Amino acid sequence: MKERLFSGIRPTGSLHIGNYLGAVKNWVDLQDKYESFFSVVDLHAITTPFNPKELPSKIKDMFCEILASGVDPEKSTLFVQSHVKEHLELTWILSTLTNFNWLTGMIQFKEKSEQHAENVNLALFSYPTLQTADIALYKAKVVPIGEDQVQHIELARDILRKFNYTYGDVFIEPKELITESKRIMGLDATNKMSKSLNNYIAITDTSEDIFKKLRPAVTDPARIRKTDAGTPEKCNVYTSFHKYFSDEETLKTVQEGCTKATIGCIDCKKLLHKNMDQHLSPIRERYLEIKSKVSYVDEMIDFGREKAQKVASETIKSVKEVIGLW
Ligand code: TRP
Ligand code: SF4
Repeated sequence: MKERLFSGIRPTGSLHIGNYLGAVKNWVDLQDKYESFFSVVDLHAITTPFNPKELPSKIKDMFCEILASGVDPEKSTLFVQSHVKEHLELTWILSTLTNFNWLTGMIQFKEKSEQHAENVNLALFSYPTLQTADIALYKAKVVPIGEDQVQHIELARDILRKFNYTYGDVFIEPKELITESKRIMGLDATNKMSKSLNNYIAITDTSEDIFKKLRPAVTDPARIRKTDAGTPEKCNVYTSFHKYFSDEETLKTVQEGCTKATIGCIDCKKLLHKNMDQHLSPIRERYLEIKSKVSYVDEMIDFGREKAQKVASETIKSVKEVIGLW
């Protein structure tokens, strides 16, 4: 039997290179090894300000982008979080075991409550309990995440351990699987890539758009003139992009050319562009094809909900039983 895996991604609009490399690409690589559950976590998304008119299309776009990236809905269970009401049911139950002090120590809560000082709400505070419920509903053992989420998985273990200790062994303590591609910086080389900072390349950007964005992208500041030598490791174009999209040979060419000042940044970016395009154009084409088949997408969303719900309702049943909620 394969081990269970769960991971979630917020419907932020368009999937950019940062969350593609940081999450979805790894999901595609992991789905053969694990029995995987992947969710578009819309209930998490509403803990910070959002536009109700745009939310439905953001959820669907993210769903389509995940499909286009190569998550196979037959192999894995891909679903929209709010469609499976058990997430909320389990969240309430786990809230009774979540120590107030555990939540006050969460870094993401501190960051988000500073970012959105006008609405520091209860759901933002208890966000990690919902995240715990996500994982626990499917009794997932493995949770692929970025480094910024480790604290939430530690908390999940604390909550579930307390549940098991109090009511009997129902849950498995999950373990994080840190994805190799850490923080992908934006084109500005100073901030993490994000939609709101407009420093991103979307996985569905056209080939021309990608080059338009790469052209002014920040490089090693030591290379003021073409004759100045540079250090690829100090260049965001190299560390955030080339490293993930270019083959060994291109990487060698760039290393040599940059340190000996025999290649200019524009040519270096042209090489990158070619490799990025090779990787992304099949995804872009699949995305456009999927988007055009509205009924297919709706069917896949229903299919995912049914598969997820089956497992989730079993779990809720056994949870209620041991607690004495009859
Ligand atoms: N909190 C995660 C993030 O911000 C998303 C998420 C929600 C998640 N539920 C999850 C990730 C469960 C892993 C497992 O990226
Ligand atoms: Fe960066 Fe390439 Fe320019 Fe070197 S040549 S500074 S790696 S863009």
